[in-house]
Amino acid sequence: MKFALILAGGTGQRMGNVEMPKQFLLLNNKAIILHTLEKFYLFKDELTKIIVVTHPNWLAYTQDLIRKNFEKDSSIFEVIKGGETRNDTVLCGINYISQNFEITKDCIVLTHDAVRPFISYQIIRENIDKAIQYGAVDTVIDSIDTIVYSEDGNEITSIPERAKYYQGQTPQSFKVKELIVAFSQLAKVQMDTATDVAKLYGLLDKSVYLVKGEQLNFKITTPFDLTVAKALLEREG
Ligand code: CTP
Repeated sequence: MKFALILAGGTGQRMGNVEMPKQFLLLNNKAIILHTLEKFYLFKDELTKIIVVTHPNWLAYTQDLIRKNFEKDSSIFEVIKGGETRNDTVLCGINYISQNFEITKDCIVLTHDAVRPFISYQIIRENIDKAIQYGAVDTVIDSIDTIVYSEDGNEITSIPERAKYYQGQTPQSFKVKELIVAFSQLAKVQMDTATDVAKLYGLLDKSVYLVKGEQLNFKITTPFDLTVAKALLEREG
């Protein structure tokens, strides 16, 4: 079985003073999260479920949005409540899968930020194939700018070799059984300090392989990103 977990449990504080979490803001008259879900829906014959893990206050709203957009064909989606941190939200999704499905060692899950609506077919394809092959993969792009490391935030400590540094995107994809074990081995404090699941795997010395991302698969985080996203869609017509 193959699952997609779409992470939509955040409140989008860096977006500033907007009336709703950024995943529900409109891009071309359609909520950002719907653009993202449409990309995963292309894999509906292959995915067992697309699980949307949303903010508890926005559960009914998310369900309604999906029902209206996908109409009668919305049965592949499941909407559940997320947690306080991004990792908690992933854990909510994993718990849902393990409680509702018979997990075998080959089951995989793709975890993707709801606010990366420009994900391509190719990135999803590669995540599925490589997660089956390697067990754990992270989508990355080359680092464009020079990375500057500073211990104290005032002066440069070092400038690492840029070619060996990448920028992390999503999906991050895993064998479900291994992911459950990984979460069970980590203390809550580790879960709270690591910003994503690939980092949690690093804490456990587990290998995570790289999948090639795309610049277009950027995360909508700030008002600037939203302006860029709107401009890109307008250009496409
Ligand atoms: N996310 C989540 N559950 C949380 C926190 C974040 O599912 N408790 C999701 C967000 O909804 C988003 C993705 O993780 O799709 C990437 O996180 P980020 O861009 O940091 O989103 P927010 O936490 O919403 O934004 P901010 O940090 O600006 O508040």
